[in-house]
Amino acid sequence: METVLDVQNLSIEFPTETGVVRAVKNVSFQIQKGESLGIVGESGSGKSTIAFGLFNSVPEPGRIAGGEVHFMGGPNFLDVKGETQRRFYWSKLSMVFQASQNTLNPLLRIRRQVEDIAEAHRVDKKKAKAKALELFDMMHLDANRVMNAYPHELSGGMKQRVSIGLALLLDPEVIVFDEPTTALDVISQASVLQILNQIRKESGISLIFITHDISVISEVVDTVMVMYAGQVVERGPVSQVMLNPTHPYTRGLIGSIPPLVGDVTHTRAISGNPVQLSKVSGGCPFYARCELRQPKCLDVAPPWMELDNDVAVACHFAKREVTLQG
Ligand SMILES: Nc1ncnc2c1ncn2[C@@H]1O[C@H](COP(=O)(O)OP(=O)(O)OP(=O)(O)O)[C@@H](O)[C@H]1O
Ligand SMILES: [Mg+2]
Repeated sequence: METVLDVQNLSIEFPTETGVVRAVKNVSFQIQKGESLGIVGESGSGKSTIAFGLFNSVPEPGRIAGGEVHFMGGPNFLDVKGETQRRFYWSKLSMVFQASQNTLNPLLRIRRQVEDIAEAHRVDKKKAKAKALELFDMMHLDANRVMNAYPHELSGGMKQRVSIGLALLLDPEVIVFDEPTTALDVISQASVLQILNQIRKESGISLIFITHDISVISEVVDTVMVMYAGQVVERGPVSQVMLNPTHPYTRGLIGSIPPLVGDVTHTRAISGNPVQLSKVSGGCPFYARCELRQPKCLDVAPPWMELDNDVAVACHFAKREVTLQG
């Protein structure tokens, strides 16, 4: 297996009036060629901040406080600047931003935006436009019409599909999708994810899906990484994590998905509110809301534990939970 992206101990913080917000804390993960990774967690858990970190473009006043990002065994990408960095994006690592329907330039027809990407990367414009037509068509868009349209002439869902098409334009090795289907209705959501899965199988591209709703991506990711308060709390094959969630937070997250059939009264919300990031102690970030908490969890950060089924979890009592579930 070929490791395409290797992220080591990425930490990102935002200085605020009430203290330093550690939005991402020692996050590490690898992605193999052709792998699809899901990053899940509730709002504010640091998912988008990780994505900005990968692109070394954390919004001000945020800063990368530590860590490394290696692409295909290369040097630490966080040290690379200027033109080299700019060219890397789109062509190697590409991203569809959260609310990407708003990131298209409102003043330019889609065609011009395709040409601009081609020009910036010294790619033949004609070829890029032909490729864009193909991609828009794949996204079930009226490709010619879309090409000649201004963003305001397209619906939110259409713009989101255009953004996905543009992200695929230069055949990147990895694409990060931040809440890729939020502007889409359920049917379009399923169809876009299916198309992305098909592209992945055909081209061997690696995908990262960021979402607060694990059920949306469960069929298109191989591996899932669960975030809480800027930290990874559980990681493993999606089937294992969905069927046998180990961390109390993951169990809450999966328990809060309404079932497709049957009694929705069994659906439970996780009690309490998301933790204030500037107030996280040295112990487990989930302490305040955890049903299994013990005094030790307040002060001692749970070590990262590898379980038998390829799942790794950061919880002092995770093993006991698995045994209890039997
Ligand atoms: N510009 C900023 N200034 C201060 N704090 C910020 C800023 N951007 C993000 N944060 C902090 O970083 C944390 C993580 O934010 P992030 O946007 O990464 O969360 P998320 O998991 O993507 O949430 P969502 O599901 O709502 O998109 C937030 O809780 C917030 O406190
Ligand atoms: Mg986000």
